[in-house]
Amino acid sequence: MTRESSSAGRARPCQGRGRGFESRLSLQRPPDVAFFFAYWPIHPDCTPDEYRSDNSDLNFSKSMNRFQNQVAVVTGGARGIGEGIGKRLAEEGATVILVDLLQKELEDTTNRLVRQGLKIESAVVDITDETEVKECLSGIADRHGRLDVLVNAAGVAGPNAIRSDAYHYEDFRKVVDINLCGSFLVAKYAIPHMLKNKYGRILLIASIGGKEGNPGMIGYAASKSGVMGLVKGMGKEYAQTGITINGLAPAVIATPMNLDTEPETMKYMVDKIPMGRLGTIEETAAISSWIVSPEASFNTGFIFDLSGGRATS
Ligand SMILES: NC(=O)c1ccc[n+]([C@@H]2O[C@H](COP(=O)([O-])OP(=O)(O)OC[C@H]3O[C@@H](n4cnc5c(N)ncnc54)[C@H](O)[C@@H]3O)[C@@H](O)[C@H]2O)c1
Repeated sequence: MTRESSSAGRARPCQGRGRGFESRLSLQRPPDVAFFFAYWPIHPDCTPDEYRSDNSDLNFSKSMNRFQNQVAVVTGGARGIGEGIGKRLAEEGATVILVDLLQKELEDTTNRLVRQGLKIESAVVDITDETEVKECLSGIADRHGRLDVLVNAAGVAGPNAIRSDAYHYEDFRKVVDINLCGSFLVAKYAIPHMLKNKYGRILLIASIGGKEGNPGMIGYAASKSGVMGLVKGMGKEYAQTGITINGLAPAVIATPMNLDTEPETMKYMVDKIPMGRLGTIEETAAISSWIVSPEASFNTGFIFDLSGGRATS
């Protein structure tokens, strides 16, 4: 059963089914935590719970108020990059609706951020379900009278360290469905609400894997290349409407997603980063918040870099 909660603490019915994400995908395996933290840049001894964005040593620029009176939707908001971006936008004044499939994690994250005084709501939605996405975004725009920002950070890595001839078609389709088709759906159904106000900022999180094609995770690379094509085409389509549509291509970032990454794949990815470390959620939130701010008014259809020096074009 899908539901929404808000900073006012009231529960609202919301569209959707809220199925269990892990069980639906069956792509999970026990995390190799020790290997993951060998690359952790700031706290080598921290536990998985401690790498949440609110435990970072990095200070956000809380004096900025770029999103005052704005309404922002962040998918994948239960944890990781989505949580970090949602928190940052809320700290700068936005009312943020975190969207995710993981009901319990979403609830915990929302409650924690609300306790910090942030205007956070949540909705359990599967971004691959067209009806859920459409109704959820309409409901938000109706209730708040506007939709200014959409960040799509929901995504999955899928199988890794596996060559294409052994990669199951079913897995390939699932990864593309979530990462690419989900990006299309959330952007498609956010745009009409933004057109009404002649203003909007859409950010779709892609990946360096989509630019360069990380071997061993071909479904992921292909889906993220698709997201880049989506951004470039959509950005041009709406370039004269007040809506910007951009992408971000991070190299490997320290989030729960990478707890499932095979050591050889992780080593391959980190070895390619000249800075020699993983990026952080806070670094991702910092560039993302600029891209979706009113300040970023002459950028659209562009894939921004966040790769510790890995990307050269
Ligand atoms: N972590 C990295 O190294 C890295 C690098 C480049 C790009 N990215 C991208 O950044 C985004 C966020 O990644 P993360 O590292 O925070 O991952 P994460 O696994 O920590 O978080 C992803 C979130 O997306 C949610 N999600 C997945 N499928 C969904 C669906 N169908 N509907 C709604 N929610 C869904 C998950 O429940 C999860 O909470 C992803 O698109 C990922 O591909 C991550």
